[in-house]
Amino acid sequence: MSKPLANFWTAVINGEEQQLQITPTTRLVDILRTHLNLTGTKVSCEVGRCGACMVLMDGDPVNSCLLMAYQCQGREITTIEGLSGNQEGDLHPIQQAFVEEGGFQCGYCTPGMVISTKALLDQHPQPTQEQIEIGLCGNLCRCTGYGGILRAVKSAGESLCAADKITENTEMERNDYDVVDS
Ligand code: FES
Ligand code: FES
Repeated sequence: MSKPLANFWTAVINGEEQQLQITPTTRLVDILRTHLNLTGTKVSCEVGRCGACMVLMDGDPVNSCLLMAYQCQGREITTIEGLSGNQEGDLHPIQQAFVEEGGFQCGYCTPGMVISTKALLDQHPQPTQEQIEIGLCGNLCRCTGYGGILRAVKSAGESLCAADKITENTEMERNDYDVVDS
């Protein structure tokens, strides 16, 4: 059987447009890890059961081991590398919460957990316990027993809401000054 022809594939990965010559059936996880060297996305079960390979596609969490290039052509993909800051060692508040709450041991499941948490908190900034459990039900951990992970998600939600409040108050103060100045 002849191999499928390689096509040009484009997508926006972590805010940057990427163009690659790959076959339409190349898996997204292989595009990320092998072609773009974004090895923060992990691969474990390869059948959509563990969530280690989770990334965001147009803001929604997806298992990158199940998606082929033609299914994510032209889409916006965010990996774990796209969440942290620009400086080495910068952590996203969700990653910080996982560190502080002991939300990992070996860390293999953690990028997927963090990505699912980002999607959950974007939708439910202050999730209930049930929403947290549903939001992370596609992510398996073989080490921690989940207590630290659930605490980390809750704590990340609280710190992101507190940060939003500070930004909102600063904006209001700035607007008040603008009114007084004018
Ligand atoms: S490696 Fe993709 S879901 Fe497990
Ligand atoms: S921390 Fe080891 S698999 Fe989750």
